[in-house]
Amino acid sequence: GARSERLFLYLQTTLAGLLALNAEEIGPDLHLVETGADSLVVMEALSQIQRDLGLMIYPRELYAHPRIGALATYLAEAFTAKDGARAPSPTPTASLELPAALRFRSSAKHRRSSPGTPKLPSVLFLLSSPRAGSTLLRVMLAGHPQLFSPPELHLLPFATMAERKEALADSHLGEGLERALMELRGWDASQCKALLQSWEAEHLPITRVYAELQSLAGGRMLVDKSPTYALDLETLRQAEELFDKPLFIHLVRHPYAVMRSFVDLRMEQLFAVGTGDPYQLAEMVWWESNRNVLLLEQEIGPGRLHRMAYEDLVSQPETILQNLCTFLGLPFDPALLAPYEGKRLTDGLHRQSLSVGDPNFAKHKGIDASLAVSWQTARLPRPLQGETALLAESLGYTLPDPTTGATPAPIPPGSAPATQRREEVVTLQGLQLWRCEWGPIDGPPVVCLHGVLDQGLIWEPLALPLAAAGFRVIAPDLRGHGRSDHVGAGGTYQILDFLSDTVGLTDRLTDRPMVLIGHSLGTLVASALASLRGPMVQQLILIEPVLPDTSGQTNVRETVRTLVDYALAPPRHTPMANLAVATERLCRALPALSPAFAERLAERATRPDGEGWIWRWDPILQTRMSLHMQGGPLNREAYLQLLRELSCPITVIQGDASGFNRPEDLEALDGALAGARRRLLAGGHNLLVEAPEGLQAAVLDAVNCLPPR
Ligand code: A3P
Repeated sequence: GARSERLFLYLQTTLAGLLALNAEEIGPDLHLVETGADSLVVMEALSQIQRDLGLMIYPRELYAHPRIGALATYLAEAFTAKDGARAPSPTPTASLELPAALRFRSSAKHRRSSPGTPKLPSVLFLLSSPRAGSTLLRVMLAGHPQLFSPPELHLLPFATMAERKEALADSHLGEGLERALMELRGWDASQCKALLQSWEAEHLPITRVYAELQSLAGGRMLVDKSPTYALDLETLRQAEELFDKPLFIHLVRHPYAVMRSFVDLRMEQLFAVGTGDPYQLAEMVWWESNRNVLLLEQEIGPGRLHRMAYEDLVSQPETILQNLCTFLGLPFDPALLAPYEGKRLTDGLHRQSLSVGDPNFAKHKGIDASLAVSWQTARLPRPLQGETALLAESLGYTLPDPTTGATPAPIPPGSAPATQRREEVVTLQGLQLWRCEWGPIDGPPVVCLHGVLDQGLIWEPLALPLAAAGFRVIAPDLRGHGRSDHVGAGGTYQILDFLSDTVGLTDRLTDRPMVLIGHSLGTLVASALASLRGPMVQQLILIEPVLPDTSGQTNVRETVRTLVDYALAPPRHTPMANLAVATERLCRALPALSPAFAERLAERATRPDGEGWIWRWDPILQTRMSLHMQGGPLNREAYLQLLRELSCPITVIQGDASGFNRPEDLEALDGALAGARRRLLAGGHNLLVEAPEGLQAAVLDAVNCLPPR
């Protein structure tokens, strides 16, 4: 319409200047790149558009619409979208999972080929979500004489320069490295470009690039600030792999400010996922980046990661930078506080081009403290999702209603919304173990342990009423299950493994007496835990308990052969076309499951793989064999003895139509659990799904018998 015509006229005059043509020579079909617009002209055009029109356009978008007429139409659409015509859906459309294609994926595997090589000297990584003020901090650090703090380098995710070139493609994100080399070598842009091209051609390993930068920087410590690193935990782990005790800054900023800025700058375009709801992408990016840094912190232990809030940095820079210098073991230098003074590599490669990093940095003249509260006026179309809100709160941020700015009424302690599920993770014995939690964090703990091939979320129907009654319900994904890590080669899935994970987890989470509930395989773990922890376990609820297999193997050779076969050729998942297939499978396996719950279970327990979707659980678990259900030291006889010796109150809940246990097993269980209360519900082995209401009643009844809290 009229808008795209006006934009066409604008582009005509602007590009005529840049391409040294007459405006009349520029028709709608003129192809920018074919007319000789090199990357320099493209960057100049972009910064001009940004200055004149206030619209952030990324190189990729321009390359995708190289003809002027089409570009004008595209820009008109972008304007319309920015004006608010792009209606964000009021509810988020999917879980907090970034599309895999969006990450700058780590190629860790290529790197470990030479484990013997010594690590590179320490560096300082500046980690944050995008739009957290990292450019400002990077430039502040550039003032310190003992630091070399260039624009974003984008090196860490890649194994070689060739791989980096391919991944960064036409994003122009690669220019920070070029700028850094210009500075260090005193060369001009074309010399540095040629050098980078030769590095790319010879597939120079990224480690060599880091080594080169470090040696050119002399005694100064290299600062690598590249906001995409935090999007991928594997990339962050590479930092530990390549460098000797690297240091990390975690710069956090209120999610409302980050998301508002992300959407205003149209960053979904930079991420090349232009479709979908940009607010949701912004939220996922904030969540994923901060979450990954927190996970990294857990892995590396204390002392090497320093967290600071953007809000504090701009409102009390001196204190914050003094603390940072203490952390870095450097003397404080006042130049840190003057980011707009001196030479700090804030210019682009060429006079006209955009600098790499925050395009808004140049709009300020000093540290702008007023931006510390920009989150208070940042409006968003809907509140944050539960997981994001919890993460933000754990970082110390308050969350007024972002649609109106209204502050929520303070929630009295102990009455947190019971229905909200939290996703949490810990690292134990090198494995990331996830869990679902519901209910007040200071409530008496109820730990729920699922069965084979199941996951923590299966407990939700039971967890909700418990949470409403004030309990903190903790439902781990056992190793190899749900979202938790697989053990990998050499690792095992034995009852003792599940048990030590659960002991480690409960020890970390609580020192209060707890209720343990297990289903099927989970009952073995729950009972063993009750036996270990004695009085710390107030009540044990066993749903469809099972026993370790009989120890007397009928055909030992056959068993061993099968296990060896699996060890040498582990089974793999066959990808499913989409989530609907996974949902359908669950519904078929458990006909009593509601389709809506099945979909949520499927969503949580699958992940994209190539073209399709696969279950997250370790495929070896399907074979049962590798579970060593004979129990090792916890063999059938020993386990029955352990049950007999339990001293806490026990409730056994069984399904009247469950054929899971053989009659002799039922008899043995009955004998060992002679003192337990018993409930028989109408249903089979999967009572969690088949008899949720009866189960709720039975469990609430059991926990209500507890001594008053
Ligand atoms: P907005 O301009 O959208 O508010 P990053 O460099 O990590 O992408 O972060 C960009 C943000 O840093 C900017 O986002 C701005 O809020 C903040 N920022 C940039 N320059 C600043 C300055 N001189 N003082 C305070 N904040 C600044």
